[in-house]
Amino acid sequence: MIIDPWGSEKYEYEKLFENFGIERFTENIWKDLPNPPFFFRRKIVFGHRGFERIKQAIKKKRPWAILTGLMPSGKMHFGHKIVIDQVIYYQSIGADVNIAVADIESFATRGYSLKEAEKIAIEEYILNYIALGLKPCRIYFQSKNEDVKDLAYILAKKSNLSQIFAIYGFKGSTNMAHVFAPFIQVGDILHVQMEKYGGLRPTLVPVGVDQDPHIRFCRDLVEAHRLYSIIPKNDKVGVFVKSEKNVKILLDEVEKMLENIERKDSYKAIYGKAKDLFDLDFELAKIERKYENYSFLLPSSTYHRFISGLDGNKMSSSKPQHALFLTDEEEQIKKKIWSAKTGGAISAEEQRKYGGKPEECVIYEIFTYGIVEDDKELKEIYDNCKNGKLLCGNCKKLAYELLLNFIKNLKEKREEAREKIKEYLCFD
Ligand code: TRP
Ligand code: SF4
Repeated sequence: MIIDPWGSEKYEYEKLFENFGIERFTENIWKDLPNPPFFFRRKIVFGHRGFERIKQAIKKKRPWAILTGLMPSGKMHFGHKIVIDQVIYYQSIGADVNIAVADIESFATRGYSLKEAEKIAIEEYILNYIALGLKPCRIYFQSKNEDVKDLAYILAKKSNLSQIFAIYGFKGSTNMAHVFAPFIQVGDILHVQMEKYGGLRPTLVPVGVDQDPHIRFCRDLVEAHRLYSIIPKNDKVGVFVKSEKNVKILLDEVEKMLENIERKDSYKAIYGKAKDLFDLDFELAKIERKYENYSFLLPSSTYHRFISGLDGNKMSSSKPQHALFLTDEEEQIKKKIWSAKTGGAISAEEQRKYGGKPEECVIYEIFTYGIVEDDKELKEIYDNCKNGKLLCGNCKKLAYELLLNFIKNLKEKREEAREKIKEYLCFD
């Protein structure tokens, strides 16, 4: 099984934990964050890698960054909204927000020119992001940022063809710009830790789960480029120097940071007690950089579920009749909602008797994705569907009204957004 970041299938989420080692994003993880938002409470964000590091940064009041990306292709739909809801939340609790416009990826994999990609990014995505409530932050274009591209090239040194063929299932006929797209994404994720962009700091990449191959690949490359590896063992920690070069100097540096040290000359490791693993990792990466190494802290990630299209498959702009776009007009919304697949029974009579199945209903799903914000209200809809008091006709009417309200409001805000866009776009 591979995950194809450029495919369009739905996932069996359970398998992702076992097959790829994605960790569960349980209530324990998010419950002490400020005002847990709906996408945590409703398990829309369901998996992560290394989120503890972000929590520690928050707890210790250290700087941390968000880096995510948008691939300009087609129109922005409701499925795309969920990532920006998260970014807005993290921005409100202190993250430094960076957003990559994946224009190179769009060119390499979807055939848009860089000019077209820029236009789509601004008109379809960025204006909506601002309208949704994103505050000024840094949005840049892959094709215009030399640091991102340099980093992609340089970090590529510690990977090879077999590795990326195995991860992505590329074929001999895959065009090389496409093959290189994952490296550019690694450049996106890590460049925010360069001195020029804020320096070493925990970085969270909130994405749809189809992007996990890039995250795994990026984390592998980070490990491969580090000079030290740190292995906690009981109440102590082992720090290993991976290469033959500079072993003594590098271990002398570590020695200053540990207590109760065990160290043998001629050995590439040192054991001791660290006051704090977070700080140790950070300090070691700093030392590595003094030796002109490409060192980064492991990036963390979260994964969200994809919203279903109105036909029950994954929502996608390539199937516009089944996708809800943020720029849809009244009539289109009406038509789409009316044709949506519900969990209703075959007749009103049956439904009154046996109830509906909200868990199989895309209308209900749309409610859960933020259109109904209040949990109590959502539960009422759920219960009344189950017990047959609420029928699909009325429920769809409610969905239509809520959506219309949302879309109208957004349209107004989009007009205002145009004036503010300069505070976001960054052309280097
Ligand atoms: N590949 C992502 C997509 O298809 C876009 C993207 C580019 C991205 N660079 C990124 C996402 C860095 C997260 C982090 O949507
Ligand atoms: Fe879906 Fe509403 Fe019908 Fe229940 S009543 S199946 S939630 S549309």
